[in-house]
Amino acid sequence: MTHLPENNLRYKDVDYWDERYKVETCYEWLGGFSKFQHLLEKRIKKNDSILVLGCGNSGMSGEMYDAGYRSITNVDYSSVCISTMSARYADCLGMRWQQMDVRQLAFLDASFDIVLEKATLDALMVEEKTPWEVSPETARFIHKTLTEISRCLKPGGLFISVTFAQPFFRKRLYARREYNWSIQHDSYGDGFEYFVYVMTKGEALSSEDAALERNLLESTGSLPPKIITTQMDDREDFLSNIDL
Ligand SMILES: C[S@@+](CC[C@H](N)C(=O)[O-])C[C@H]1O[C@@H](n2cnc3c(N)ncnc32)[C@H](O)[C@@H]1O
Repeated sequence: MTHLPENNLRYKDVDYWDERYKVETCYEWLGGFSKFQHLLEKRIKKNDSILVLGCGNSGMSGEMYDAGYRSITNVDYSSVCISTMSARYADCLGMRWQQMDVRQLAFLDASFDIVLEKATLDALMVEEKTPWEVSPETARFIHKTLTEISRCLKPGGLFISVTFAQPFFRKRLYARREYNWSIQHDSYGDGFEYFVYVMTKGEALSSEDAALERNLLESTGSLPPKIITTQMDDREDFLSNIDL
């Protein structure tokens, strides 16, 4: 693995990604589209407008295009990534590539049927030492991003998050009434389990998730015991260094 950063903090740094994308052609985090295609196909219609956040140099959008999804807007804050990927897929009508920060999406309210991210939010949490309580800075970052995602979703639209983070940890971030969505999840993977969270805009949180939100609000300041989760099969270091 030639692109591992000397320090996990660099996964938050656009310069790291720019340098990496100058030399790396393709890297697939958490497996390629075929691994979780069966889970997406039951949720996404072929004519849905799809926004992919932190697309990187993954082949996922290209494989989705080949599978018949024709309106795919891809954003990443690395300009190197966006120029490489837009050249690579120049012949694909309906595929768009825009340099953008996920915290400030330059789209109108209710623009997309689907917002999809794979390992992008994971990369934003590389500094975290515990999944129980993210730092105020990261919490703000994630909250800004989730608020933007919710804003850009059409009523009934879906935010789909593909991650290695187990429900016990990731639901703590997604279960907030202000995002105005419900949460469901599936998993995939041979040997190691990855997760696909599906948030439906306009649906209420389940009573269990609403209780989770209430409990988190009430218990601010008290840290529950740390549970270690490891995903050692992935060669990228941050997956085994943060316990999300
Ligand atoms: C772990 S990689 C995942 C890439 C791709 N989604 C995949 O599944 O292979 C994280 C990606 O998110 C991008 N990224 C990180 N922070 C971002 C931000 N604030 N705004 C937009 N893109 C960001 C990085 O440039 C990188 O391409």
